[in-house]
Amino acid sequence: MADTAILEVDSSLDEARWAAVLRRDPAMDGRFVYAVKTTGIYCRPSCPSGPAKRGNVRFFADNAAAEAAGFRTCKRCRPDAVVVATAKDGIAGRIAALDWPRIDAELDEGGIGLLGPLLSPTECSDLRSFYEEDHRFRSRVVMQRHGFGSGEYKYFAYPLPDLIGDLRAAVYPEAARTANRWRAMLGQDPFFPDSHRAYLKHCHAAGQRRPTPLLLRYGPGDYNCLHQDLYGPEVLPLQMVILLSEPGPREKGGDFTGGEFVLTEQRPRMQSRAEVVPLRQGEAAIFAVNERPRQGTRGAYRVKLRHGVSRIRSGQRFTAGIIFHDAQ
Ligand SMILES: [Fe+2]
Repeated sequence: MADTAILEVDSSLDEARWAAVLRRDPAMDGRFVYAVKTTGIYCRPSCPSGPAKRGNVRFFADNAAAEAAGFRTCKRCRPDAVVVATAKDGIAGRIAALDWPRIDAELDEGGIGLLGPLLSPTECSDLRSFYEEDHRFRSRVVMQRHGFGSGEYKYFAYPLPDLIGDLRAAVYPEAARTANRWRAMLGQDPFFPDSHRAYLKHCHAAGQRRPTPLLLRYGPGDYNCLHQDLYGPEVLPLQMVILLSEPGPREKGGDFTGGEFVLTEQRPRMQSRAEVVPLRQGEAAIFAVNERPRQGTRGAYRVKLRHGVSRIRSGQRFTAGIIFHDAQ
């Protein structure tokens, strides 16, 4: 009985994928690939080549899975060129290739900058699978018990998994640069050193020694109340989030519905402004932890930010959070 149910769900996913191939939907590029058994070649959904026979087609979550099954890339649609984030590029290279002037401008305008696709579907599923591996974590938090919302999260233990550690080290210099620029806007001297290693030394000397990167898991009905990720007086005022699940209904290849990332900003003597942040699987954003300067007509002033997650309506949603300061 259980097997039948699984087969039905899987075949409805494949039917949605096949429909995307028939309409050559470019919006589905990067979400899956399809391979043709008779030619040994795999393509992106929008490949302009003539349609194959449905019976000869197999679907894969990403390029790596198709290649592992022995298929080669189509020279016409180049599925290997679609996903910016592939395992071939190191994390440092991907971070260096981002459009930081644009991200900085978004941070100054709204307190959040979109990094775009950063992790491949395989990397996302690897990180999701870590959630069940308790030896990787130092603690687990059930949000209901603390009034934080509904759902749960786990803080990684040191040493961090390579992917998380590499992301934290590679994004830190950009975050520190913005943090120092924000300090300058408020008339403060630069404070944050260039390397994360040096900054962590400072946190540890201040008694903040426990790692803060985390994985969060939400199911139907779960949500995360608006909050700020402060873990002691030492704060690097930017942090990163990466969505590890694909938004959208199951029949369209998604993992969950609802569950939007929400950021609110409160200016002095004004009501809060809310922003819903569009992310897809593997995409990341960097945003203000607690406050940031905003340029006014008479100089810069501080605005307060909070973030959270709206209620999940169906499915399961995983995210990774990377905070640069350590915890008390
Ligand atoms: Fe948070």
